[in-house]
Amino acid sequence: MVESWKSNLNTVTNSKVSGEEMGVSELSKLESLHSSRLDIIILHSQKGGPGKTTLSCNIAHELAKRGNKTVLIDLDIAQPTIQHIFHVPDDEINITINDILLGESKVAEEALIKTKYPDLFLITATENVEYGEGLLSLLEGIQQFSFFALHEMTKFLQRMGFRYVVYDCAPGYRMESVNAAAVADARVFVVRPSTFSFEGAKQMLTDIYKKLDIRSLNFFVFNQLPPTLKKENVKLLESWKEEIIELYKPDKISFLDFLPISFDIMEQGIKGEYIFPETDELYVRLLKIVDILIESIDKMKEKKN
Ligand SMILES: Nc1ncnc2c1ncn2[C@@H]1O[C@H](COP(=O)(O)OP(=O)(O)OP(=O)(O)O)[C@@H](O)[C@H]1O
Ligand SMILES: [Mg+2]
Repeated sequence: MVESWKSNLNTVTNSKVSGEEMGVSELSKLESLHSSRLDIIILHSQKGGPGKTTLSCNIAHELAKRGNKTVLIDLDIAQPTIQHIFHVPDDEINITINDILLGESKVAEEALIKTKYPDLFLITATENVEYGEGLLSLLEGIQQFSFFALHEMTKFLQRMGFRYVVYDCAPGYRMESVNAAAVADARVFVVRPSTFSFEGAKQMLTDIYKKLDIRSLNFFVFNQLPPTLKKENVKLLESWKEEIIELYKPDKISFLDFLPISFDIMEQGIKGEYIFPETDELYVRLLKIVDILIESIDKMKEKKN
């Protein structure tokens, strides 16, 4: 029988070990855990809507297409999407990420949903969440418990032979997203070409990513650029790119691409299809992004060994 966060809350909060110490020891455990090569990629943003879900689905799909056993996990528990993108019927969902992070279900094979794409699996989130309850509760104990649950899940996925985990995060400072950022090998920060998205990106990269600068690689990508841009706006976007790199330090963050809006992709979305066709320019750009992510993580891990 799995104990839920409620029964674990006392153990966590009454423990003599401080939260900080627990975090550090868990992180060092994670270091050794990573030797058997499960790589974790997260897609995150400060503001909503820049394309995290679109990119995480396509990155996970491409990793699987290359023969890597991959699981895409919906961490946007307040507004889950992955279930709909892959058209998973409700009755095929037995265990959700909410159940796992709250300890209400042991992470098990039933949580993994097979897609029609070989090697691509999903873990979906629950739509019926209530503010102030479960993972949306403000109780501190839940944060700690769900962080440990995330580690347990990582170990389980490793035992199941997964090569990549891709987390589609909720935007902003949500607990699950910050936890995922802490355990990620590579974080991809998605930014829209707008002043508020840019300002938000700088704020979040400074507030959170720099503080979690333990072992992860950081990347950023601008998405949803208009097909044609005035010269002065091209210049401005270039200066934003440089500013982010400078702010974060060039050796700590890498720029991936300026991705265009694809009207074909928008039109596909009307029919409920979100995987980029090989003929779309976005697919060609995505291939390069996936190459960079794979190679950079490989390099980082080779250096460590
Ligand atoms: N490059 C693109 N070209 C065309 N449409 C895009 C592109 N990127 C994203 N979209 C569309 O923009 C919308 C928002 O994208 P998406 O849901 O991936 O963003 P998100 O960052 O996950 O949003 P949220 O913060 O709400 O989770 C979707 O309708 C998606 O299909
Ligand atoms: Mg999303």
